[in-house]
Amino acid sequence: MTIEELVQKAKEVADKAYAPYSNFHVGSALLTRKGNVFTGCNVENASYGGAICAERNAITTAVAQEGKEMIIHKIVIVTSNDAPAPPCGICRQFIAEFADYGSNETEIIFLGKEGRQIKKVSEVLPFKFEF
Ligand code: THU
Repeated sequence: MTIEELVQKAKEVADKAYAPYSNFHVGSALLTRKGNVFTGCNVENASYGGAICAERNAITTAVAQEGKEMIIHKIVIVTSNDAPAPPCGICRQFIAEFADYGSNETEIIFLGKEGRQIKKVSEVLPFKFEF
């Protein structure tokens, strides 16, 4: 599964976003270490704080399907913004929970109409919460 194929899947799922309040559509596609692909879009709520981000929807689906040992190899995030939009803080911490910070680091790819950025998880969240 190439990054281009993940980008295509993220774009497709972004079209399914339920975002009547922000009108900001987000799609995410992740590739697990086992080679499976899972997708998610943002789903908002009239009680605004109930909104769920695209990345976390993709990750919870991946865990439900693959199990708690799931490791994110790459995760792509697509929005309708011109500039690439990086994941929010909560999603960074959520990605970190299932990421590889070792020699085969998880990659986070986010893109808009103007281009894309590819970052290692340690660049996006260098000082993750742990206890
Ligand atoms: N959103 C995401 O889906 N992912 C992020 O990383 C940041 C924000 C969604 C949540 C909400 O539905 C909309 O974008 C505006 O914040």
